[in-house]
Amino acid sequence: VKIGVFDSGIGGLTVLSALMKIAPGHDYLYLGDTARVPYGTRSATTVVRYSLSVASQLALEDVNCIVVACNTASTYALAALETACAPLGIDVIGVIKPGVTAALNAYTQGAIVVLGTEGTIRGKAYQHALMAARPNLDVTGIACPLFVPLAEEGWTDGEIPAAVAERYLRPILTQSGVVILGCTHYPLLIPVLNQVLPNATLIDSATATAHVVAQRFGKQERPGSISFQVTDHIDRFCRVGTRFLGLEPTQVTWVDLVAPSGTFAEVLSTYMEQSSS
Ligand code: DGL
Repeated sequence: VKIGVFDSGIGGLTVLSALMKIAPGHDYLYLGDTARVPYGTRSATTVVRYSLSVASQLALEDVNCIVVACNTASTYALAALETACAPLGIDVIGVIKPGVTAALNAYTQGAIVVLGTEGTIRGKAYQHALMAARPNLDVTGIACPLFVPLAEEGWTDGEIPAAVAERYLRPILTQSGVVILGCTHYPLLIPVLNQVLPNATLIDSATATAHVVAQRFGKQERPGSISFQVTDHIDRFCRVGTRFLGLEPTQVTWVDLVAPSGTFAEVLSTYMEQSSS
């Protein structure tokens, strides 16, 4: 199976890393929209527009499935991507539903807290999915935007990330219950988060999503191929990406995203009409 992995930039390599371990043997094509990262601070409309153009490019590569690794894109654009991909027979798997299912499975008592970008928290897709499954659940979201540059800078241990985490997580420091890492970059901060939130159970959406892919497409004995496309320069992607993926990305090419075509263009124009009316 050829699986496209879509992310706003580098962070989704944590999802690819989980896929390579948990659902090995498929042909993975990772597309990181490094020219337009971050998605986490952008409006819903912009995230939908960007996501449709990335997915349109992946469709040209004949993928059978698109894994939307970016939590912000999964929050705002999943329905649009599903609508555009369905007529083409391309499956779409986002990170939110798998993260929510894993969180509910781990949950025993207390609250469920979602950590993510500004956009992911404001868009409330995690919060709504949790509450739809268990209406009486105590659910809160906390945006932790500085975690993204810290992870990319490699400042994932020591005083600085611990101080940042303590500041963001002040309201929940002693809380037990489940904390969902609703952003591609946060798995790199797991040691710090475990230290700052000693009583909480951390759920990583990347791992949960890889299990869903393994269930749907199985694991293969063959060594699948792994390739990458990026929309900005390759150097930084390879250098920073090595830490996220656990190995250096090779087979990286630059792509220019063109305007979405076919069903992607149709969904985009319907969406733009609705959002302007
Ligand atoms: N990939 C994004 C996410 O998981 C984080 C980086 C960004 O803001 O684009 O939400």
